[in-house]
Amino acid sequence: MQLFLRLVCYRIKMKEKLAKIAQAAEAEIATAKAEELEAIRVKYLGRKGELTQCLRGLANVPAQERPQVGQLANQLKHKLEELIETKSGSAKTKQLSGLADKEWLDTTILPTKHLLGSRHPLAQLQRKLEAFFTSIGFELADGPHLEDDYHNFEGLNIPPDHPARDAHDTFWLKNGKLLRTHTSTVQVHILEKRKPPFRIIIPGRVYRYEAIDASHENTFNQLEGFMVDEGMSMEHLLGILQTMLEHIFGCKVKVRFRPSYFPFVEPGAELDMGCLLCNAKGCRTCKNTGWIEMLGCGMTHPKVLELGGFDTHKYTGFAFGIGIDRLAMMLHKINDIRLFNGADLRELRQF
Ligand code: DAH
Repeated sequence: MQLFLRLVCYRIKMKEKLAKIAQAAEAEIATAKAEELEAIRVKYLGRKGELTQCLRGLANVPAQERPQVGQLANQLKHKLEELIETKSGSAKTKQLSGLADKEWLDTTILPTKHLLGSRHPLAQLQRKLEAFFTSIGFELADGPHLEDDYHNFEGLNIPPDHPARDAHDTFWLKNGKLLRTHTSTVQVHILEKRKPPFRIIIPGRVYRYEAIDASHENTFNQLEGFMVDEGMSMEHLLGILQTMLEHIFGCKVKVRFRPSYFPFVEPGAELDMGCLLCNAKGCRTCKNTGWIEMLGCGMTHPKVLELGGFDTHKYTGFAFGIGIDRLAMMLHKINDIRLFNGADLRELRQF
C-alpha cells in the first residue's frame, strides 16, 4: 500500500514538473524573437536542458509508471521541437520576403570576367621565335641600345656618306652616340669577341626617327640572326627561315628569295612568303602578287668578316633580320602597328 502511494506521488510530481515546463516553454516560444529561439531550445532541450534533465530522471520513476511518464515527456519534447521549428521557419520566411523588397538580384547580369594579365603580343611572338631558334642550336644574345657610329654603320660596311644611311633615320645624341637603328649592330660586337663557328640570335628594341603612321613606328622590335661556320650557303639560310615561318604560322608556307641590297651581306635578299590570305593567288594584302615581303637576309659580306679578322676562305656566314612587329601584324592580321605601343587594353587583351 505504501509502495503504491509512493508511486502515485512520484507520477504526480513528474507530471506536474512536465506541465510546468510545458507552460513556461510554450510561453517563451510564443513571445520570443527569431534570434532568441536557439537559446530557448538549449534551455529546455539542450544536453543540460530542463526537459532533458527530466527525461534523465525517468530512471528514478518506478518501472510500472515509467512508460506513461516517459510517453508524456517525449510528447512534450516533440511538441517543443515542433513549436521552435515552426516559429523559426516562419521568422525566416518573413525575413526573406522582407529582404526581397529591400535587396534584389538581377540574375541575368553576366558575371564580371576575372582580368588576368597576359603577355604582350610582341613578347609572346619574341618568345616563340627564341624557343624555335634555341631548339635548333642558336644562342641568345643581347647588345647595347645606345650605340656608336662604328657598330651601327661602319662595322657593317656602311661608311659615312653611304646612301644606305638614308634608310636609317637616326636618333643622334649630342655626344655623337645614337640609338641603334637595327639589331645588326650586335653582329659587330660578336665579331669582336667570338670565334666561329657560332649561331646566335639577338632579339631587341630598335629606334628610328620616323613619323608614326599605320605602318611606321619610331620604336619597334627586331630579331637578328647571325651564323658563321665552314661551308654555309643560301640554302641553309632558306631552309632555316622556311622552317621558322612554318613554326610561327603553324602551316606549310611557300618562300622565295628576291635579290635585294644590304651593305653587310652579299648576296643580299628579301625573303617573301606566299600570301596565306589568298593562298598565293593574289589579293589586296599581297598587292595581287601572291607574295608578302617578310625579312631581309643574305650571306655575310667578306668585308664584315674581315673586320673580325676571320679567314673568309674558310668561313662563310649568313644573317637575317626579322621585324617582330611586322611578323606579329601578319600573324594576327593587324593593319596598324600603333596598336602595339598604344595603351588600349581592349586591344591588347585579345591576345
Ligand atoms: N638590319 C636591316 C634593317 O634593319 C635588316 C637586315 C637585312 C638584317 C639583311 C640582316 C640582313 O641581317 O642580312 O633594315
